[in-house]
Amino acid sequence: MTVEALPSPVRTGFPTGFVWGAATAAYQIEGAAGEDGRTPSIWDTFSRVPGAVRNGDTGDIAADHYHRYRDDVALMAELGLGAYRFSLSWPRIQPGGRGPANPAGLDFYDRLVDELLAHGITPVATLYHWDLPQELESAGGWPVRDTAYRFAEYAQLAAGRLGDRIPTWTTLNEPWCSAFLGYGSGVHAPGRTDPADALAAHHHLLLAHGLGTAALRAELPAAAQVSLTLNLAAVRPLSTDPGDLDAARRVDGLANRIFLDPVFHGRYPADVLADTAAVTDWSFVHDGDLAEISRPIDSLGINYYTPTVVAADDPAAPAPRQDGHQGERSPWPADAGIRFLPAEGSRTAMGWPVDADGLYELLTRLRDDLPGTPLLVTENGAAYEDYSDPSGAVHDPERVAYLHGHLSAVRRAIADGAPVNGYFLWSLLDNFEWAYGYSKRFGIVHVDFASQRRTPKDSARWYAAVVRTGELPD
Ligand code: FCB
Repeated sequence: MTVEALPSPVRTGFPTGFVWGAATAAYQIEGAAGEDGRTPSIWDTFSRVPGAVRNGDTGDIAADHYHRYRDDVALMAELGLGAYRFSLSWPRIQPGGRGPANPAGLDFYDRLVDELLAHGITPVATLYHWDLPQELESAGGWPVRDTAYRFAEYAQLAAGRLGDRIPTWTTLNEPWCSAFLGYGSGVHAPGRTDPADALAAHHHLLLAHGLGTAALRAELPAAAQVSLTLNLAAVRPLSTDPGDLDAARRVDGLANRIFLDPVFHGRYPADVLADTAAVTDWSFVHDGDLAEISRPIDSLGINYYTPTVVAADDPAAPAPRQDGHQGERSPWPADAGIRFLPAEGSRTAMGWPVDADGLYELLTRLRDDLPGTPLLVTENGAAYEDYSDPSGAVHDPERVAYLHGHLSAVRRAIADGAPVNGYFLWSLLDNFEWAYGYSKRFGIVHVDFASQRRTPKDSARWYAAVVRTGELPD
């Protein structure tokens, strides 16, 4: 069969109507940390803790997107993006995390959304990309049940003002990171290190997702879509030895089924409850919570960077935990006896192995496990040691290769029946990469943080061509 004779989804790869976008998050790009009534979030506090963020970097200025959003939207239009995934800053919209909305905070998103729409770019908004108002953390944070109710209130305020123009809403970005890096290993804000708190935070984040979904549905037009974005792990056992297979089962439980089962089936997996019984009795799960958490959603967002290889512990060859997350403490509750190893392959500047098959594995697994649930790749991309050459150009062939490989994996998953409707590249701009500060550059647009000058990298031009043609160059 010649290439021409293949049915069109295989030849061109991406179905008609496939959404091509790029993603960012509020604290990573906006700056303007103290402007127009915004109050501190846990990241403003955490980034000031000595040693918490590389170089003492903070999001105070970041990419100054708050003031430069018009130029940034113009850049997106030049690249031909069909959609833009960004997050709303809770402490900008509802300073302090309770009480009435701050009109000046909402005005910013109002202007941004109108600017996007004027350029034909669909806004895709995430309500929570990790910037909990500090007051709510001071009142106990995500391990406390009330935080979930506060989130639903915030969701209602945001949707009430912006819901007429934003067709797709995501409640949470990567609650695994919020719970397990924020309250388990402590490498993310608020920097707490208690596995029982991490599991309570996990449950309350899911409760916030459920209550938030209900609040959004009450405010949004019927056609609006509600989703959730998870950083599911493409878990691979090192071998087929029973010990390695059991390690894979446990990590699949703690990374994947701990989310998918409650959200899509209204239950926690029995093996995860058993595996974590020594850490918590799960008494924070109240009657009715799982019904709330499993309210139907319209799509699932997947963020993927690198796979997770696990094995049974080998006391004879102790090895550092290499799960892609920094920190001395493990984010994984009850992980005794599990080794985390790197996958084969070249590494990005984060040290994350490049392995596009993991994305294919995840998408086809979800095709099988959640039949009929539309999927979106809401983040995928790579950091490399980018620099501008004397002419000002930024050549990033490794990023182009990474993107090519991962988009090929998406195309292959679609050809094999995975209902993937869109792809959002992480990230539009170089930005504040959490505990790594400004030292890691994920953008397809280079940002000189001293001058705030934006320079599209080679990967931006490459991606613009993919977006324009819907095809991957050979
Ligand atoms: C994801 C986050 C995003 C960015 C990328 C590299 O975990 O959602 O904000 O930091 O990783």
